[in-house]
Amino acid sequence: MQRIFSGIQPSGIPQLGNYLGAIRNWVNLQADHECVFCLVDMHAITVWQDPAKLRSQTLTQAAILLASGIDAEKHILFNQSAVSAHARLAWIFNCVTRLGWLNRMTQFKDKAGKDRENHSSGLYVYPNLMAADILAYKATRVPVGEDQKQHLELTNDIAQKFNHDYGLEFFPTVEALIPPAAARVMSLRDGTKKMSKSDPSAQSRIEMTDDADTIALKIRRAKTDTDVLPADEAGLEGRPEAKNLVTIYAALADTSIADVLSQHEGQGFGPFKQALTDVVVNTIAPIAQETTRLMQDENHLVKTLRSGAARAQAIAEPIVSEVEKIVGFVK
Ligand code: TYM
Repeated sequence: MQRIFSGIQPSGIPQLGNYLGAIRNWVNLQADHECVFCLVDMHAITVWQDPAKLRSQTLTQAAILLASGIDAEKHILFNQSAVSAHARLAWIFNCVTRLGWLNRMTQFKDKAGKDRENHSSGLYVYPNLMAADILAYKATRVPVGEDQKQHLELTNDIAQKFNHDYGLEFFPTVEALIPPAAARVMSLRDGTKKMSKSDPSAQSRIEMTDDADTIALKIRRAKTDTDVLPADEAGLEGRPEAKNLVTIYAALADTSIADVLSQHEGQGFGPFKQALTDVVVNTIAPIAQETTRLMQDENHLVKTLRSGAARAQAIAEPIVSEVEKIVGFVK
């Protein structure tokens, strides 16, 4: 059985893009994989996080994942900082990765923008920690949204260089599992920007804890154009907001874009947004409700993460210990 590793930053409340690009896939992959799912709190602090919020968001995120169908007993759910193997392997990878490789990472450029000098060095070496997350478990498959593809290519470059430098076939090749549909859900306010849990405008995203009224309002306010829905996908070219809403609909209704357009062709956005609201609420409302229930027992959530961390540690510790021996550290 192949081992899966994937992570999500507790830097906000997970949004619909996280769900469609990653979480939904994680839930389905549990049937035939050994899965390790991680709340990457060490990644989150590469940009400022209010400590109390980081703690509560980590617990909320654990609740959302459980409510979405992650099975924390059959599989592993934990927070990154609880397993020291991540930090130890990340340091070794800091010494394997070349600066030139990191300079090519588009996510750093997007996040740091023109103000590069004022960002943390953690944000810059972030992809090395991500490679360590995956390779500390020798995971071979990583379900992510489209935006993480470049980081996974870097993970393979690091693994290959490590294997080559030390003359061993130690780390496996990692395969990105990117969903065929909705691998990049866009902002409701700007169809050219990725939907993100850290966007300053909450109107730009559907959060996994939004109630039906909030979802309806956000979709009603979502940016669109003045045209009607076209007959086929070609008609969505140059209409990023329309394309995004149709893509979300198709992904949530488990159907194709062509099928959605054949049902709604010629419709204005008023009625289409109504139909979209129903589809979104059908998915999110039960998850939000179960999340609220799980949040009432914080102790249980903390215990679940601790038990996950102990089981994660049991896998990662021998692997990272072995890496330290390979490198020449006295153990
Ligand atoms: P993060 O927290 O930004 O996002 C978690 C997952 O959600 C996906 N995603 C999206 N998919 C589609 N449309 C969107 N708008 C959208 N926004 C986010 C992301 O691709 C991701 O799969 N670096 C990672 C966390 C990480 C990780 C790892 C992932 C740390 N270590 C090891 C996999 C393996 C991140 O920032 O995800």
